[in-house]
Amino acid sequence: MNILLIGSGGREHALAWAIAASPLCERLFVAPGNPGTHQIARNVDVKVTDHAAVIAFCQDESIGLVVVGPEAPLVAGLADDLAKAGIKCFGPRKYAAQLEGSKGFTKDICARHGIPTAAYGRFTDKAAALAYLDQHGAPIVIKADGLAAGKGVTVAMDIAAARAAVEDIFSGKFGGAECVIEEFLEGEEASFFVLTDGRNALPLATAQDHKRVGDGDTGPNTGGMGAYSPAPCMTPALCDEALEKIVKPTIRALQDMGHPYVGVLYAGLILTKDGPKLIEYNCRFGDPECQVLMMRLKDDLVTLMLACCDGTLDKVSARWFDDVALTVVMCASGYPGDVEKGSEIRGLEGASAMEGVEIFHAGTAARNSVIVASGGRVLNVTARGRNVREAQARAYAAVDRIDWPEGFCRRDIGWRAIARESGQ
Ligand code: AMP
Ligand code: GLY
Repeated sequence: MNILLIGSGGREHALAWAIAASPLCERLFVAPGNPGTHQIARNVDVKVTDHAAVIAFCQDESIGLVVVGPEAPLVAGLADDLAKAGIKCFGPRKYAAQLEGSKGFTKDICARHGIPTAAYGRFTDKAAALAYLDQHGAPIVIKADGLAAGKGVTVAMDIAAARAAVEDIFSGKFGGAECVIEEFLEGEEASFFVLTDGRNALPLATAQDHKRVGDGDTGPNTGGMGAYSPAPCMTPALCDEALEKIVKPTIRALQDMGHPYVGVLYAGLILTKDGPKLIEYNCRFGDPECQVLMMRLKDDLVTLMLACCDGTLDKVSARWFDDVALTVVMCASGYPGDVEKGSEIRGLEGASAMEGVEIFHAGTAARNSVIVASGGRVLNVTARGRNVREAQARAYAAVDRIDWPEGFCRRDIGWRAIARESGQ
């Protein structure tokens, strides 16, 4: 079967790597792709926001499956338009994608079905939002509704910061004028991924991201600075609890609303002393969590994705290598703020030839025959090992082989799990 993958980041390079290895995949196209996907698939210049153009491409190239990496095309209804044209799509339709696209939509489902999440209020009126802040005090969390690429969330430790965040949202800084204000949850954060065909749920391996830019989890939030799988904090009992109390009721709710969710559902959890609580849903794989999941997946990814589309997820299973996978995100200096583009990256071949190492491209471009940085998060240096310590050592050994003075990365990816391995 011919497959079209949509997206251009490190997540998509990792997905392309797994899809290209599938015995079911004849030709793999990536729109638009990046220099990493170019090595294993055909990058194509199809305008993803032009759904008619995507459909025409699928018809011309006899595409049997479209896999959507990022959330924006799903929230924009690409899966709906593909379905109308009779083309299979891994990824939810517009209505179900609101689980990521609208925090208020998700919060309301949680409230209706008793799904554990932070207590919250939803506001379209600034005065009412400010009054709620005064009533609840800090610490408190303020979120712009709608897609804000991770930038619309403020964890306010004092009331002045909370008020400033509300003012920002109602000044239209994030495009809308609606916000969710929620209780601050204390605990370790974990990412939980489940495949679903709308009815059945198949949990994937666990992973943990590192959201803050600096070592020791300091500095501003980012899209993710590194990840590893499995996440030892997500014990089998906690996975079961998250599946039964959070994910399954959500899948059932959407099915009952007549809008079954097809694809991967990513639950961002905080493991509180009262059990896992939902902080957000995403309608896609996490980036960089996807990179470590793909490194550990033993079964065929395309088979699993087709089972989601065909409603046969109860007939398949997902097995994982026992190895730990760990990825270090190399960023252009300045990230998560403004970054300089165009700096040259050398030494990628030597680094990716190291044992157990895969380098996924995230924000790179090819200039003549040279790889240059073209975004904030640029490379995902990923390694397998028998334990977190070994995977981490291999990943950083590969990082150190890469010659890119303008880049930086955290030096402590995996610290929580290593502390656990050392019995601390
Ligand atoms: P979100 O975009 O909703 O995932 O929020 C971004 C980050 O803010 C999360 O990864 C958490 O670190 C933090 N966060 C979000 N909601 C809460 C909450 N209710 N309590 C504590 N931290 C939160
Ligand atoms: N790694 C966090 C995310 O993909 O949203």
